[in-house]
Amino acid sequence: MKYTGTTFALLGAATAVKAQLIRLGGVNTAGYDFTVYTNGSFTNNAETPPAWEYAHFSNEGANLYRIPFAWQEMTPTLGGPINLTFFYENYDTTVQAALASSPNAHAIVDLHNYARWNGEIIAQGGPTNEQYASIWSQIAALYGNNDRLLFGIMNEPHDLDIPTWAESVQYAVNAIRAAGATNYLLLPGSNYTSAQTFPTGAGPYLLNVTDPLGGTEKLIFDVHKYLDYDNSGTHAECVTNNTVVLETLVSWLRENGDRQAILSETGGGNTASCELYLGEELAYVKSAYPSLVGFSVWAAGAFATDYILSVTPNANGTDQPLWIDAVRPNLPVP
Ligand SMILES: *[C@@H]1O[C@H](CO)[C@@H](O)[C@H](O)[C@H]1NC(C)=O
Ligand SMILES: *[C@@H]1O[C@H](CO)[C@@H](O)[C@H](O)[C@H]1NC(C)=O
Ligand SMILES: *[C@@H]1O[C@H](CO)[C@@H](O)[C@H](O)[C@H]1NC(C)=O
Ligand SMILES: *[C@@H]1O[C@H](CO)[C@@H](O)[C@H](O)[C@H]1NC(C)=O
Ligand SMILES: *[C@@H]1O[C@H](CO)[C@@H](O)[C@H](O)[C@H]1NC(C)=O
Ligand SMILES: *[C@@H]1O[C@H](CO)[C@@H](O)[C@H](O)[C@H]1NC(C)=O
Repeated sequence: MKYTGTTFALLGAATAVKAQLIRLGGVNTAGYDFTVYTNGSFTNNAETPPAWEYAHFSNEGANLYRIPFAWQEMTPTLGGPINLTFFYENYDTTVQAALASSPNAHAIVDLHNYARWNGEIIAQGGPTNEQYASIWSQIAALYGNNDRLLFGIMNEPHDLDIPTWAESVQYAVNAIRAAGATNYLLLPGSNYTSAQTFPTGAGPYLLNVTDPLGGTEKLIFDVHKYLDYDNSGTHAECVTNNTVVLETLVSWLRENGDRQAILSETGGGNTASCELYLGEELAYVKSAYPSLVGFSVWAAGAFATDYILSVTPNANGTDQPLWIDAVRPNLPVP
């Protein structure tokens, strides 16, 4: 939500009113992250997510687009300047297409590097916190003060020391605020941003991350959850609707200062099992707003329509069965 005159008036009233995002729902539009491996290496096969998809999905009620990119694509040198040619000709062109697709459209600027650069972990043998914060200072200067642009400060950290990672998160938050940006920030835990391990794993550490703006309403926890048997998001069949995991997360959020989380990756195959279970999961997410701000399904964008988790529309403009049966009924504007 933007700070309108009304919001300021409410903030001035006796009852405290939190800044709050509207309920969000949509899709990851992948491409600029092709091919970042889980070790943070990148083999320079980025592709541009087709711009027409944003209007297509927004017309159906979507209002959230997560737009992943490779760290190495944005800053070819670790800790160095953003490649402004790439930024303006490619990445920002995509972001602006997403934002222009509806007045309520939001985008997540997603640094898709698993807390790593070329195999090495931030502040744990690899890039320094200063080098990590550098890209966010620069993005903050380019994209600051827009509540429709959320900063996904890191995709899927894994296999790292959590207390040290929480320090890196705080470092990035401070750098973004020091650059003057007031955007909502998505804070990721470990285990590939697992929703399941969050309350007992990284959650207690990330609760202690503070916002120089004051309050915590602009610090939203980032979680992922798939529905296949090993929670990897690599199988066409789904075996769970994740209600137990998400209920546990929501209870934890409510018990810990009424915090919020966003399910920024979930999804399944175009199969009967996923059409059932993903539909149930997203219905639960919808019912748990505002503890759960919303969801973005993995994935459309530059993925082909035959990718195992594809919700990329067909060339003739029709949607995939999973989108029609499970996602579309749970979008914010049905
Ligand atoms: C910067 O981005 C442009 C456009 O994607 C690309 O052609 C160029 O090679 C990039 N520069 C570096 C140093 O990677
Ligand atoms: C990262 O993983 C890829 C794919 O498995 C591999 O080819 C590459 O050598 C790895 N890079 C590093 C730095 O370990
Ligand atoms: C979650 O991640 C932490 C830190 O990387 C690790 O110690 C722990 O074993 C992981 N838990 C599971 C269930 O994979
Ligand atoms: C968070 O901060 C509180 C207050 O300083 C402290 O008691 C607690 O141990 C911290 N939590 C973690 C997981 O470090
Ligand atoms: C999820 O599955 C469980 C067990 O089958 C069921 O009880 C529950 O109602 C389902 N949740 C939703 C939101 O449909
Ligand atoms: C649109 O394309 C899909 C995939 O090729 C096909 O299955 C479907 O029948 C087409 N629908 C129409 C209305 O042309």
